[in-house]
Amino acid sequence: MSQSNQKTVRVGLLGIGTVGGGTFDVLRRNQEEIRRRVGRGIEVTMVADLNVERAREVVGKAAEVVADARLVVANPDIDVVVELIGGYGIAKALVLEAIAAGKHVVTANKALLAVHGTEIFAAARAKGVIVAFEAAVAGGIPIIKSLREGLSANQIQWVAGIINGTTNFILSEMRDKGLDFEVVLKEAQQLGYAEADPTFDIEGVDAAHKATIISAIAFGIPVQFDKAYVEGITKLSATDIRYAEQLGYRIKLLGITRRQAHGIELRVHPTLVPHRRLIANVEGAMNAVLVQADAVGTTMYYGKGAGSEPTASAVIADLVDIARLMDVAPGARVPHLAFQHDELSTTPILPMDEVVTSFYLRLRVADQTGVLAKITGILAEQDISIDAVIQREADEVSGEGGNQTDLMILTHDTKEGRMRQALVQIQALPTVLAPIVSLRKEELA
Ligand code: NDP
Ligand code: HSE
Repeated sequence: MSQSNQKTVRVGLLGIGTVGGGTFDVLRRNQEEIRRRVGRGIEVTMVADLNVERAREVVGKAAEVVADARLVVANPDIDVVVELIGGYGIAKALVLEAIAAGKHVVTANKALLAVHGTEIFAAARAKGVIVAFEAAVAGGIPIIKSLREGLSANQIQWVAGIINGTTNFILSEMRDKGLDFEVVLKEAQQLGYAEADPTFDIEGVDAAHKATIISAIAFGIPVQFDKAYVEGITKLSATDIRYAEQLGYRIKLLGITRRQAHGIELRVHPTLVPHRRLIANVEGAMNAVLVQADAVGTTMYYGKGAGSEPTASAVIADLVDIARLMDVAPGARVPHLAFQHDELSTTPILPMDEVVTSFYLRLRVADQTGVLAKITGILAEQDISIDAVIQREADEVSGEGGNQTDLMILTHDTKEGRMRQALVQIQALPTVLAPIVSLRKEELA
């Protein structure tokens, strides 16, 4: 076996919770395999966590444990700081301090990078250090590496992904087992999938953080979370999950970013996807990312998007990259956002009115002659073409009598702005008896 004389890379871990604990365990378990790959050891020598007792139970005598994370950042013996605390507060300060101290940084913190990435990457560039973040998007799936390196020959056209395990788990369990939203959410929290604040998961914010990072890397634009459209799953009803199923679709919370002629779409929302697509069959906490690119065509990346060891897998892959590249001149490394920083594009993120999708509409209407004609007439005025119309029998409409019916309309692609105008007019019709449900639909062909 070849042995290297390169010195061991010394890692300081900030936060030893779900991901930090997994990182420590996997690194220790696989240290020999990793050393053979890298040619040098990678060792956690210092850990900071507010709960020192618990941290000591995890690391034993293998590393020094402190409560104050700044002691790790300031320690000249630490080469790489791994930030696994989360959030924008202390995590941001610690990452910037680590960079200022000339240390490379690994983080799984998508919230931090989606919101403050521009500042953090600029600071890292100025100091010639690496900020690595494979674990920030889709947990254990190496999607950052794939987009940034594996697909670097291509013009990427769009990326669509199930990039939040918690919501995919909730949608799957609700559909399969008929369980209530709250019950499944609790289960996801116990399994360590959900964020500290689960509203980030269920309101689509976590997926939007990840879609923002994907968008930057796919199209060579700055991270712009403030421009992302975000809609979660809390308003989704079991009725629409069921109707979608009957129409041949599954509802998934998708993060989508797409290059259009005049800008880039960046959006997260529940989406109807044809059930025959592979991505529609991604269940539980699994994640999947579909990438459409000009040379390679469609590729899909599938795996565990959350959890202790799957996420640790990505954190440690970043540590391996750093161990290999830390002695390489900064200009020769892969740029943080895949494109040279002075080549980032100013292409705007499109407002939602300009986004093009097809739609599923559900309307509770009076069961009278001419109702459908009025609705389709308004859609036609907005140049919205109808793909299919389905009416439920009156007696299937939740026991409210025979004079009401549910209409489901599937449309072809249209600009969202046109659909919004049409919906205002349709909602105002006296024969439309309840708020219209409108969900976006993507064929992902
Ligand atoms: P946890 O809450 O499980 O772990 C965070 C740890 O940091 C806790 O032990 C916490 O201690 C500690 N901590 C909090 N504040 C400080 C501080 N000031 N100094 C030192 N330690 C501190 O979070 P996760 O491991 O789940 O997540 C960590 C990061 O990884 C987040 O950015 C998250 O978004 C991201 N991530 C998580 C995934 C997952 O599956 N869980 C997947 C992908 C990314 P205490 O408990 O006492 O507050
Ligand atoms: N809360 C996130 C999820 C963790 O459910 O996907 C992984 O980023």
